[in-house]
Amino acid sequence: MRLYLGIETSCDDTSCAIYSPEEGVVAYRTAAQLDHAKYGGVVPEIASRTHMKTLLPVYETVMEEASVGPGDLAGIGVTNGPGLTGSLLVGLSFAKALAYGSGIPLAGIHHIEGHILANAIDGPMETPAIALVVSGGHTQLFSVERPGRYGFLGGTRDDAAGEAFDKIGKILGLPYPGGPSIENAARGGNAAAFDFPRAMRNSGECDFSFSGLKTAVRLKVEELGALSSQVVADVAASAQEAIVDALALKSVMAVEKTGTSRFYIAGGVAANGRLREVIRERVGNAGAEVSWPPIGYCTDNAAMIACASWYHLSAGRGDGLDLNTFPRGELVSWA
Ligand SMILES: Nc1ncnc2c1ncn2[C@@H]1O[C@H](COP(=O)(O)OP(=O)(O)OP(=O)(O)O)[C@@H](O)[C@H]1O
Ligand SMILES: [Mg+2]
Repeated sequence: MRLYLGIETSCDDTSCAIYSPEEGVVAYRTAAQLDHAKYGGVVPEIASRTHMKTLLPVYETVMEEASVGPGDLAGIGVTNGPGLTGSLLVGLSFAKALAYGSGIPLAGIHHIEGHILANAIDGPMETPAIALVVSGGHTQLFSVERPGRYGFLGGTRDDAAGEAFDKIGKILGLPYPGGPSIENAARGGNAAAFDFPRAMRNSGECDFSFSGLKTAVRLKVEELGALSSQVVADVAASAQEAIVDALALKSVMAVEKTGTSRFYIAGGVAANGRLREVIRERVGNAGAEVSWPPIGYCTDNAAMIACASWYHLSAGRGDGLDLNTFPRGELVSWA
């Protein structure tokens, strides 16, 4: 059995996983950093210092769970960007030391490719396909010719969908992160209570904009004054519907423009039940079968990075010890 270790420390989750193309995920652990919640967002200095403390025990736990030593690993995959430089450096330095010390091949993985390939953890993706990446920092549509070959179809002009959820959650006084809090609050709300904007609706392109929505919600909340829990639920449901509607609209457009019959959702916002329901229905009606990763592998996790490293290393693409981090950068094809 070939075993690949994945390491993910691009933001505030310290995650390690062992993946085998034969067996799937053999061991997986993520230590979420709870200290950030009281600041209402990720504090980079706290994130990298916490990775320093947590990465070794998380690594030791997955190795123990899988009953393996470094000599049993066929490869190491590590997220080397985009993300917070201090956080990325902790994971990358750890991965390099392990690769050097044990003579294991190393592959740097683009975090967004990791999110897309979370869809390949439980079995190969059907391609060609379209992938909608919706996360805390990204909202993009890609054509996926096959793992390793990606074409950019469109993206957000300003805020990402997850960022919009988080900012609107903050405006409503809901716990951080806003995405799951808004989904929870929206359950008791009326999605038609407020008509929030769907920007770029008629642009004719697969692009998005969510900063106007955030402002519209802020102005509405200021106008409403003191909010009852029912009004919070109605605003949450209406804002969620506006985000989901905008994402569905351009997803359908991407399917229609390309004639693709397979569609994948990826990234933390893919955990949103209303998004999955609406995309499955509307993209399904446009002729594409829709799926998403197992819910636990939507937000940041090392299983997707381990799986991606198997694609890279088995295709003969790896990196040397001069591999560096990058804070920003588009996903490019490598295969
Ligand atoms: N149930 C949910 N509904 C809506 N949004 C959600 C849900 N669960 C998580 N999110 C959102 O997902 C985002 C986190 O996803 P992810 O971990 O993929 O982002 P990131 O790693 O911070 O950003 P990126 O992947 O772009 O670098 C947050 O914005 C969070 O609010
Ligand atoms: Mg992410």
